[in-house]
Amino acid sequence: MKKQDQWTSKTGFILAAAGSAIGLGAIWKFPYMAGTNGGGIFFLLFVLFTILIAAPILLAEFFIGRKAQSNAISAFKKLAPHTLWGTTGYLGIIVSLIILSFYSVIGGWILSYLARSLNGYFINKVQSDYVHIFDSIIENPVEVLGMQLLFMLITMAIIQGGIQKGIERASTWMMPALLVFFVLLAFRSLTLPGAMEGVSFLLKPDISSLTGQTVLLALGQSFFALSIGISVMVTYASYLPETENMPKSAATISALNIFISLLAGLVIFPAVFALGYTPDQGPGLIFVILPAVFHELVFGGILFTVFLILLLFATLTSAFSLLENIVAAFMKGRQDKRRRYTLIAGSLVFVIGIPSALSFGFLSDIHIMEKSIFDFADYITSNIGMPLGALLISLFVGYKIPKDLVFNELVQGSPKIAFVFKGWYFLIRYIVPFAIILIFLQSFEII
Ligand code: PFF
Repeated sequence: MKKQDQWTSKTGFILAAAGSAIGLGAIWKFPYMAGTNGGGIFFLLFVLFTILIAAPILLAEFFIGRKAQSNAISAFKKLAPHTLWGTTGYLGIIVSLIILSFYSVIGGWILSYLARSLNGYFINKVQSDYVHIFDSIIENPVEVLGMQLLFMLITMAIIQGGIQKGIERASTWMMPALLVFFVLLAFRSLTLPGAMEGVSFLLKPDISSLTGQTVLLALGQSFFALSIGISVMVTYASYLPETENMPKSAATISALNIFISLLAGLVIFPAVFALGYTPDQGPGLIFVILPAVFHELVFGGILFTVFLILLLFATLTSAFSLLENIVAAFMKGRQDKRRRYTLIAGSLVFVIGIPSALSFGFLSDIHIMEKSIFDFADYITSNIGMPLGALLISLFVGYKIPKDLVFNELVQGSPKIAFVFKGWYFLIRYIVPFAIILIFLQSFEII
């Protein structure tokens, strides 16, 4: 039996954890959620929740993972033997399966766009074609399922290769490249005539559009975007060997995530208003708006292809972390089982994802709690599963684990970190769990 896999360097860990966090959450989900839930007020809540609730949980997950040096399920069992805390890990694995099942649907859409753009399909298209192109893709069962399968096969191939080789190598340059692209796109979008209406939609909170559901959705968004509550970051931090300033990593990743969400908003909303669309189009928003923004650029066709490759990569690095979480929990350190469990978990994810994939066409008439199958899968994971997991993690670190143990592991003798520790521990113990409970109760109109 081989020893636990490890990152080859500290940067490897940061890049992979940032790669897990930054993906469709900031680029695809944030704009459409903000677009359907009041714009500015959603953004404001998202930022507040990321700083006060999600980022502290991220650090708590890093702590659990590095301390226990084992997968999502065993980590809780190891730190609290003979208790029921292992349930938190099981919950995380189930939620990871469901998230990846619909995440891979969007991964498939990106592959569809990429295939078309490589074929030159978008050349000579006009703005009014984009809605039609999107609809024709998502309503075609063979295409969505085929592309979702392809996306899962790529994800599985990388996870079978193991940690360092697969994930780290690619993260190093593609993430920064994506960032540069977004700055360029935001610039183009902001200079379109009429763009300022989009800017105020995103940045001016309108309190009158605030509801209990908006608060819960913004909380769910902050969890989804940081990949927390389902122990993905426990698994990733378990591959961390020696000293590492984990508070700094958690802060950097959180800040980067807010920044990319903001940039995505500044690309999408100015264009939405300038080009005469509406912001409340749901999951298709970026797929309709982005081609239109690229259309306004010189060499737009080529740039769109490059952009789709980078977006695919950002999506894959998040998908890797979800699959790795599941596979690591199955493997329990037995590296020789990696290939087999990757195949089993990946196939399971694909099968669970079929109804979500078809819910935009063939199964579009089926609704659960007034939501399409896709939206329902997203809702129960982002807004119930992840907050519930996060609640358990905050109680675990804040109340179950002795404070000394947490202090020593995180602070490692640094007076600067000791100072930060105080504030963080206060949040984890007194603010995070109660805020989550309150938001739950209030959004379901219990209080
Ligand atoms: N954070 C990822 C994104 O924003 O695209 C999605 C995600 C990855 C959620 C991993 C949860 C997770 F565990």
